[in-house]
Amino acid sequence: MSDIIKIKEEYISKLNQDIDLNQVNQFKTELFGKNGKISNEFKKMGSIPADVRKKFASDLNAIKDEIQNLISKKIQEIEIQEINLKIKNEKVDVTLPERSFSQGRIHPVSQVIDEISSIFSEIGFNVEEGPDVENEYNNFSALNTPENHPARDMHDTFYLDKNKEFLLRTHTSPVQVRTMVKGKPPFKIIAPGRTYRSDSDQTHSPMFHQVEGLHIDKNINMGHLKGCLNYFIKEFFEVDKIKMRFRPSHFPFTEPSAEVDIGYEVKDGKIVIGEGNKWLEILGCGMVHPNVLKNVKVDTLKYQGYAFGIGIDRLAMLKYGINDLRAFFETDYRWLNHFGFDPLDVPSSYRGLSR
Ligand code: PHE
Repeated sequence: MSDIIKIKEEYISKLNQDIDLNQVNQFKTELFGKNGKISNEFKKMGSIPADVRKKFASDLNAIKDEIQNLISKKIQEIEIQEINLKIKNEKVDVTLPERSFSQGRIHPVSQVIDEISSIFSEIGFNVEEGPDVENEYNNFSALNTPENHPARDMHDTFYLDKNKEFLLRTHTSPVQVRTMVKGKPPFKIIAPGRTYRSDSDQTHSPMFHQVEGLHIDKNINMGHLKGCLNYFIKEFFEVDKIKMRFRPSHFPFTEPSAEVDIGYEVKDGKIVIGEGNKWLEILGCGMVHPNVLKNVKVDTLKYQGYAFGIGIDRLAMLKYGINDLRAFFETDYRWLNHFGFDPLDVPSSYRGLSR
């Protein structure tokens, strides 16, 4: 009997036994692998005398096809067997009690970021983001903050290297720089995110949240800034009237600069926003300093505008009556369950921001 008939018979009988998928694959390599028995027969072709070569080739191809068909059938058979076995063994016990289902809650800070984004989006602001790890240039120099400015003091800033080249951003203002460098005016953006300062007590956390605002266009003035903030505060606190005051202040990257307080009073132990004689500082703002615009190659003869930076955690505490900032970041699940929000309630002005 010729070699190829022997190989054929050997493997047909092997494939007809009760074998598993691994074994089939093993046979496949034994026959058709690089050094497989059938592969080797093909390699012989050249040395076979011409008069019998044709017959040898057609026999060999026929055997190859036959075995390959057998292998595919076997694989199918084994797979069907496996499925049937699974179906037989898997029973659904409909009397079992259901698994308990726990739904997560949205953290108040995330909720407030969504609310803020929703309010500003509706009046034409795009939402931008920047990295927590910034370079010195974007965080300070580009923002007209000279090297000897107190904000650069080691005391406030978490530097990440000896050369003070990289740091954890101390405010969201570097996103102003990033946005203006990569685009062309006009700019109308907000940028919410995490910020860091080396400061920790009942009202300060080393990590906190801000939202930056920036509006640069041909005729933007301080009136627009006041109108925009007034609108935002009313929408955010969901009140019709708001008491607001602009106090002169200083930031290296704005001129003139102001801090904004909102009026409030305490009624029956609760804070009521928009009434009363008490003031609460919630943000810093001003007209973007021409030096900043020059640094990002915006033509100061054509363009100007305002910027603001709002403390998000403070807003969340005020709106939702949370009095300890530290609780925000202690990741206590019971706290989150109490103060958190339904993940399916996406805030929007027309559906209601907070429910
Ligand atoms: N970046 C300032 C801060 O963190 C806030 C601010 C932003 C002020 C934009 C003016 C303009 O205190």
